[in-house]
Amino acid sequence: MSADTSSLKLPKENPGAEDFLPLLGTDYVELYVGNAKQAAHYYRTAWGFQPVAYAGLETGMKDRVSYVLQQDKIRLVLTSPLQQDGEINEHINKHGDGVKVVALWVDDAAKSWKETTSRGAESYFEPKTIEDNHGKVVLSGIHTYGETVHIFVERGDYKGVFMPGYREWKSDFETPEVGLKFIDHMVGNVGWNEMNKWCEFYAKVMGFAQLVSFDDKDISTEYTALMSKVMSNGNGRIKFPINEPAEGKKKSQIEEYIDFYNGAGVQHIAVATDNIITTVKALKSRGVEFLYVPETYYETVLDRVGEIDEDLEPLKELGILIDRDDEGYLLQLFTKPVLDRPTMFFEIIQRKGAKSFGKGNFKALFEAIEREQESRGTL
Ligand code: FE2
Repeated sequence: MSADTSSLKLPKENPGAEDFLPLLGTDYVELYVGNAKQAAHYYRTAWGFQPVAYAGLETGMKDRVSYVLQQDKIRLVLTSPLQQDGEINEHINKHGDGVKVVALWVDDAAKSWKETTSRGAESYFEPKTIEDNHGKVVLSGIHTYGETVHIFVERGDYKGVFMPGYREWKSDFETPEVGLKFIDHMVGNVGWNEMNKWCEFYAKVMGFAQLVSFDDKDISTEYTALMSKVMSNGNGRIKFPINEPAEGKKKSQIEEYIDFYNGAGVQHIAVATDNIITTVKALKSRGVEFLYVPETYYETVLDRVGEIDEDLEPLKELGILIDRDDEGYLLQLFTKPVLDRPTMFFEIIQRKGAKSFGKGNFKALFEAIEREQESRGTL
């Protein structure tokens, strides 16, 4: 998240993608939540995010409060309303706590808005410049699936803690980080027969190209199914898999999400670490709950993925999943939903060459989710 944008001319990771919308990375993810103060405490104590910036009554904000937290390149903004009515209350009422904004870091927010709206994106707001004595930030926004939006953030030479309107948030309370580095991918759940529509949106409006596609034969268990396509921008820094439910004997986890979120929205945020064993150990010791994979998974996993650098024992102890593709392997683990509604969760991922998404784990994973659905009475 440094201001150095010289690395923009990266080798192309995804040659099918077009270059009219150069994206430097994910700038921040903003969740609308019922109680931002307590949510901020959770992301600090359980996840090791560090306090960065604050906006609220004390900074002249009358209707809302926002806490900005960061861990390496991952920046979260947690926002709650201070008054009744208004769009934040409506969002929380309809969706529960959830991701409102996936903000994308760009060199030119006005051009990003123009390029995307001229290709059919619905404007969320027109380019605007906000300033304080640390410099200026230019913002613009477009709508995507459900009530989720993308905000383009042009930081230029802005020197403040986050953006104008925010002040530095200092705290004596310390929580060590857990080794999370950056957002690897963010997954959207959309309704029946809507996956292709939203993949086309990312292709046409944002110049993304499809990396991979999974149909219901790839992603199904005896009972439930879903379909998924992964869209990515040119430099490969932004990856948005899009899921839709598929017919099965029982209710797909995607349908359960749509029921409780009341529409399309962000299903999971995958965060990367360089050492999944220490990261997951730290998260578990601080109370983060993960999906449970039966020990039998580990009886055959090495036959499937071959040799790996790590000892199997700690992976088994922590329930970490392994998968391999042509380029290497990956280690991953999924939390239970981090909200009261069974909607959003996190994935912890460590890539060791692999560029894929853990297809070989889908079955074990979805069976684990089905056990959770069963306990909620939503299978
Ligand atoms: Fe994922």
